[in-house]
Amino acid sequence: MSNYHIKHLEEYWQVYRKSVRNPEDFWEEIAEEHFLWRKKWDKVLTWDFKKPEVKWFEGAKLNITENCLDRHLATRADKTAILFEPNDPGEKAQHITYKELHARVSQFANMLKDQGIQQGDRVCIYLPMIPELAISILACARIGAVHSVVFAGFSATALASRINDCDCKMIICSDGSYRGTKTIDLKNIVDEALDNCAGIKKNLVVKRTGNQVNMRKDRDYWVEDLLANAATTCPATIVDAEDPLFILYTSGSTGKPKGMVHTTGGYMVYTAYSFKNVFQYKENDVYWCTADIGWITGHSYIVYGPLANGATTVMFEGVPSYPDYGRFWEIVEKYKVTQFYTAPTAIRALAKEHLDFVEKHDLSSLKVLGTVGEPINEEAWHWYNDHVGKKNNPIVDTWWQTETGGIMISPIPYSTPTIPTFATLPLPGIQPALMDEHGQEIKGNQVEGRLTIKFPWPSMARTIYGNHERYRDTYFSAYDNMYFTGDGARRDAVGYYRITGRVDDVIIVSGHNLGTAPIEDAINEHPAVAESAIVGFPHDIKGNALYGYITLKETGESRRQDNLRKEINQLITDRIGPIAKLDKIQFTNGLPKTRSGKIMRRILRKIASNDTGNMGDTSTLLNPEVVQEIMDNALV
Ligand code: WTA
Repeated sequence: MSNYHIKHLEEYWQVYRKSVRNPEDFWEEIAEEHFLWRKKWDKVLTWDFKKPEVKWFEGAKLNITENCLDRHLATRADKTAILFEPNDPGEKAQHITYKELHARVSQFANMLKDQGIQQGDRVCIYLPMIPELAISILACARIGAVHSVVFAGFSATALASRINDCDCKMIICSDGSYRGTKTIDLKNIVDEALDNCAGIKKNLVVKRTGNQVNMRKDRDYWVEDLLANAATTCPATIVDAEDPLFILYTSGSTGKPKGMVHTTGGYMVYTAYSFKNVFQYKENDVYWCTADIGWITGHSYIVYGPLANGATTVMFEGVPSYPDYGRFWEIVEKYKVTQFYTAPTAIRALAKEHLDFVEKHDLSSLKVLGTVGEPINEEAWHWYNDHVGKKNNPIVDTWWQTETGGIMISPIPYSTPTIPTFATLPLPGIQPALMDEHGQEIKGNQVEGRLTIKFPWPSMARTIYGNHERYRDTYFSAYDNMYFTGDGARRDAVGYYRITGRVDDVIIVSGHNLGTAPIEDAINEHPAVAESAIVGFPHDIKGNALYGYITLKETGESRRQDNLRKEINQLITDRIGPIAKLDKIQFTNGLPKTRSGKIMRRILRKIASNDTGNMGDTSTLLNPEVVQEIMDNALV
């Protein structure tokens, strides 16, 4: 039996039991047998959820890129590491072998050093899905610099706040990006952001679209020029297992995004291990995750997890609808993709289109289908299963978070029998628990509660950059000695988990986590707005869409309501990005509040979802007349 590669259900249970009986021994064995360390750890695990403090493989030394690149050179030098499929199907794809990737990462790393980047420095990366995105990430890791990738759909304001929060010294961007028929001027967005980022000394620009950009002297440099002088070998900087590898921002319940800090050794071990098992990757497979590397899914399961296993990982620059709705399936056919990992929102969008788009492609290479990012509804699950998997491919519904670093609850394909909408069972080493509102664990099956994790796992985020207290308050204060996920879940009769959704002020729209607070902050900046509250409501394709209840300072303003709606959405686009725009805006004379002044979002959610049959406990409601008025004018 190999603990590293689970092949059937019985083995899963054996491995799982072992992993929870003695987690230290379990992870130590995996770390020892499957990775390259320059020095072994002194201690496998130190932890205290009260502080909170978690350290895995303390004292060990390594470089993650030696694990993702160098060690494959002996056996896989000419194997494709990254298969880059451009936005435009007419443009040539790039098959970057392990040998080439090693050389390009080394060259990029030397260039970063030449430009003054040192171990521990933070580098912001704001790039579209082009090979340089993966290369610059790995180049930072090569020299022990900390990458902070910001999704290239965020606005200048959002980018600037992320750059400043972690004191980035450099940004890497591109002149522009392609998305379907559109070209986006990324460099302009960066220029605007940098007006407010004094800490950025250099802006390195990758040429992608060739559109006209302004290069500011002594700050902006073309990457291709700088690379010309850099050597293609670069010794890896050896770091401590607990040294930070990257920062990635996620939404929270205040306006300020949380910079989740992931460290090196544990993250590497867990993402590699989970990749191997959840996708059952075999040597000649072609694996494709459609996420953007700007999110955690791309970090862990396009870059680090696959490369640590010597896999071929597809990187797609474009969108599922260009040049037509068959693009995903055309790519699967073209490269004989074996594992395909996407988001429920993409499945729902494609399921709305004509079946011909999928049926005309040969998808027989597929072996495993995955989903991530939000609960998948039954209809989408069945469409995926019937038309993509031809009822022949297990679907792994993988539950996890930016904070968890890797997949936590998921079927093991060909081992765990799946049920639509269930993420099923925890991976080895993961100990979920359900809690009630009084802080008691709910034992047994056929129960529902708040999802927590009892014991540390190697890839958990170690802190929020610059704010350890917020890390403790958000994740470790709700329940004693447990990590609180912010999600609700049900455990069924056989112990399978089904994630029911967020229980906090985060709303997942098209698979993107959006905090209500930053959106409300943006709206409240509008001079006509007195107060606002955002809730989610069910949406066919996006899963959830945003409904805003907005009270204006003067009711007379309502004459120009349509203009106001546009202005408010523009403000949101400027402050956060178009992903956070509101689908519905209702102007109100007030918001339902408790006696202590808290907005009762529960009521607003019910109204937005047209589910006003039972409003639940309204005994603390201060202003029932407002609720009636909101219901009478609801946009449903
Ligand atoms: C939600 C994405 C149901 C959940 C990797 C979680 C899911 C949040 C699933 C994290 C799933 C993710 N089923 N819900 N399979 N996967 N979620 O940080 O609410 O972008 O807390 O990480 O997405 O989103 P994040």
